[in-house]
Amino acid sequence: MLAAKTSPEVTAAAKPLVSITNVQKTYFTRQAPVQAVASTSVDVARGEFVSLLGPSGCGKSTLLMMIAGLEQPTGGSISLAGSEVREPRRDIGIIFQDATLLPWKSALDNVLFPVRILRLPIEPYRRRARELLAMVGLSDFENKKPSQLSGGMRQRVAICRALIHDPDILLMDEPFSALDAITRDQMNVALSEILETHKKTVIFVTHSIREAAFLSDRVVVMGGRPSTIMLDMKMPFERPRRFEIEETPEFVAVCRKLRLTIEQAHTGVPSQIPAAKQRGVVE
Ligand SMILES: Nc1ncnc2c1ncn2[C@@H]1O[C@H](COP(=O)(O)OP(=O)(O)OP(=O)(O)O)[C@@H](O)[C@H]1O
Ligand SMILES: [Mg+2]
Repeated sequence: MLAAKTSPEVTAAAKPLVSITNVQKTYFTRQAPVQAVASTSVDVARGEFVSLLGPSGCGKSTLLMMIAGLEQPTGGSISLAGSEVREPRRDIGIIFQDATLLPWKSALDNVLFPVRILRLPIEPYRRRARELLAMVGLSDFENKKPSQLSGGMRQRVAICRALIHDPDILLMDEPFSALDAITRDQMNVALSEILETHKKTVIFVTHSIREAAFLSDRVVVMGGRPSTIMLDMKMPFERPRRFEIEETPEFVAVCRKLRLTIEQAHTGVPSQIPAAKQRGVVE
């Protein structure tokens, strides 16, 4: 479906929704400049779920912030549906690592917050907000403040908030990392179900290999020094997925390969994958 920019198959395929071309990011600080992302190219097709994995500090959040238009690249370009990203846009929904809900607002009003910012008509969106909260099992909690909700409930509210204005693209930065293992599994299933109903293109940052393999169509491993893409791998599992797949030898083998690449990413040593495949999709 998609691959690295250099792959001839890509030119023949449908145009990607997200196109990241030779993007670089250097933060100029008072001390030495920090090169967060070296020349990186990756495409994401409409409807695809792509996870970014990699060691802490390798530039995953920076890449996500650039896609969101919240940070500007210092080299290269990012385009969404053919137009270059220069500022935050309506067609993107973002879910940060912490739910970052407004503490003085109810769950319902938090979900409606982007509607107010975007100056959209509140009434039709209020109905949609209630439908979304019902879908994630929070109908009875719409009037509760964030402090009255559990961590998992707050994240579910944050997911509804990101979906309220029906963006094409969802950017998720370690959305479930603060949750316990069982809640995290439940959130993975909830997210998969939400995406069945509301088909989106998702770019998802996580440190969990298992989570990435379970949720994604493709997993991209970032790393090396300076950081770039070390592996871009298709997840060969049918959908809808059930947790039982995690016990299959195929799933275990995929996770092993991802883990090996991340270990190499930690040391900055290039992956053992043939050079031609390093920036393309590994089947
Ligand atoms: N605003 C900033 N100013 C200066 N340097 C920054 C800034 N934001 C990030 N960095 C640096 O850029 C590099 C990449 O940071 P980034 O947050 O993108 O990494 P990450 O892969 O998301 O890490 P983690 O997995 O820990 O969240 C790091 O060296 C970090 O110190
Ligand atoms: Mg980060």
